[in-house]
Amino acid sequence: KRIKLLEVRSELGAGTRGAGMGPDALRVACLNKGSDYFRRFNTVVLPDLNQVLFEKNQFPFAKHIDAIYTVQKGIAAAVEQTLRFGEFPLVLAGDHSSANATIAGIKAAYPTKTLGVIWIDAHADLHSPYTTPSGNVHGMPLAAALGLDNLKHQRNIPDAETEFFWRRLQNLGEPGPKLLPEHLVYVVVRDTEEQEDALIEELGIKWIRLPEIKEKGSRRLTREIYEHLRFCDMVYISFDVDSLDSSFSMGTGTPVEDGLYLSEAENLCQDLLENERVVCFEMVEINPTLDNGNTMAKNVFNILEKATDAIERRLRLEEVVSR
Ligand code: ARG
Ligand code: MN
Ligand code: MN
Ligand code: MN
Repeated sequence: KRIKLLEVRSELGAGTRGAGMGPDALRVACLNKGSDYFRRFNTVVLPDLNQVLFEKNQFPFAKHIDAIYTVQKGIAAAVEQTLRFGEFPLVLAGDHSSANATIAGIKAAYPTKTLGVIWIDAHADLHSPYTTPSGNVHGMPLAAALGLDNLKHQRNIPDAETEFFWRRLQNLGEPGPKLLPEHLVYVVVRDTEEQEDALIEELGIKWIRLPEIKEKGSRRLTREIYEHLRFCDMVYISFDVDSLDSSFSMGTGTPVEDGLYLSEAENLCQDLLENERVVCFEMVEINPTLDNGNTMAKNVFNILEKATDAIERRLRLEEVVSR
């Protein structure tokens, strides 16, 4: 079993321009380090529709949702096909809206298996077009995957066309919700809106905050997370770089203070990725136009290398066992 890199250059879901170049920033960091990382894996670069950014947005409560739907169909198909080929999809994406498509692709490959999601992010990304404060679709992937609208806390009235595309996103791949709230774990989420807070509370979503991470350390936390996800047959890990403390995350669109230190993120990713149930890892929201001389990308590339080593160690182990 091998890793396959899926590069998603779309940035349509972000509110700030430039995250589409995130995968390039990682390549530059790799070259400057003299690492062979990008030579080791087959890579597929998925088509983006970033040219629509030069046109006027028609959907204030879900910006560019029509083009995002097209992009997501491509991502979901690529993730599904990678898994069906027996490869491990490692997704490097621009903005985080991609995660809905990644989840849909995993469920399309394994429709009868139960999915758990570990969401390492400053944000809950649990808005819908009915509740979003910004209209940015990168704030919505988990509501789409969970099949939620959160109408109880509605603040916007999107038009019928927005609703049409939102339903399409919620029903990408296999129709219906891809994920149950009890199979979602938030890690270091700390910048939420009240509509999201209400939903997290109502649904009882597991939420691990920074003090708990500092106190328990990554080994014990990893054990507790997988204990919480014990009924899940497979696990997807989504790493938004704004999970890092803002002192390290200057190169992302929405930095937030009181986040992970580099070593904490590295250890957590490594420990979580050693679990044999993990079927996919994704890293998002690197924006080199905001970065300070590729400093954040350089640090994040180190985390990516360590995370990838952990995946490869585990895949090799599985080969030995199955032989
Ligand atoms: N909650 C805010 C919004 O919906 C911020 C979302 C940021 N999401 C991200 N993937 N960086 O606009
Ligand atoms: Mn996010
Ligand atoms: Mn975020
Ligand atoms: Mn906020």
